[in-house]
Amino acid sequence: MIVVIGATGATGRLLVEQLLQRGESVTAIVRSIEALPASVLQHKNLQIIQASVLDLSDKELQDIVKDCDAVASCLGHNLSFKGLLGQPRHLVRDAIQRLSQAVIFNKPNNAVKFVLMNSTGVRNRDISESIGTAQKCVITLLRYLIPPHADNEQAADYLRTQIGPQHTAIQWVAVRPDTLIDAEKNSSYKTFASPIRSAIFDPGSTSRINVAHFMSELMGDEHLWQQWQAQMPVIYNT
Ligand SMILES: NC(=O)c1ccc[n+]([C@@H]2O[C@H](COP(=O)([O-])OP(=O)(O)OC[C@H]3O[C@@H](n4cnc5c(N)ncnc54)[C@H](OP(=O)(O)O)[C@@H]3O)[C@@H](O)[C@H]2O)c1
Repeated sequence: MIVVIGATGATGRLLVEQLLQRGESVTAIVRSIEALPASVLQHKNLQIIQASVLDLSDKELQDIVKDCDAVASCLGHNLSFKGLLGQPRHLVRDAIQRLSQAVIFNKPNNAVKFVLMNSTGVRNRDISESIGTAQKCVITLLRYLIPPHADNEQAADYLRTQIGPQHTAIQWVAVRPDTLIDAEKNSSYKTFASPIRSAIFDPGSTSRINVAHFMSELMGDEHLWQQWQAQMPVIYNT
């Protein structure tokens, strides 16, 4: 069973669809059931929990992730004044942290896979990812002026530094798309360990449907998982 948060979002709903198509059982934590596409609402393998993820108690989260194989996050701040600048400012970080704590509390027999939808604007500080001075300045400004950017950075940093590569209860991958675009169909894409272009001055594009495809492949394909475990792959449309 795979727990999905941000399942009503533009990428999350595609991820839920693709996971169900692959035969997975999905538990989606959503604020609004109506925001899920009709194509998945009646699916026998979909369980819906109606709640705002950060409002759930520790005990409720522990029950939700009990026996799950993976947790996938497509959470993001809504592009409104309140979504960008209001509370909760640490939506993604806190959701990942609390779900991680819930998994660890349950002491699973096998490590639970966490797949975090992140961004190319976030650096993987485990490896040397050099960026130019101008980009560094812009990212620093974003960090202080746009809370969702700092939230994305801290969510990835939590997995990277607090969970790390050797945790017995959790393994993780943080997927970094470039500028997101909508597309009807899957297309070819490539993944890299680090950005191959500037996220600020020369951004590429990544279809949400391709992000959903890569995230679902990661959870379903052990070989691919081992290739990217504890890393932050960047994904671009080709
Ligand atoms: N835009 C880009 O070009 C770009 C590029 C790279 C990475 N990203 C990152 O990709 C991620 C997802 O992008 P997207 O466009 O698919 O996102 P999206 O359509 O905005 O979806 C966001 C999801 O988060 C949920 N959410 C928002 N605020 C919440 C709250 N306070 N409590 C609980 N749930 C909440 C939304 O639920 P509701 O439906 O209930 O509102 C929705 O399910 C984001 O983290 C973003 O930073 C974006």
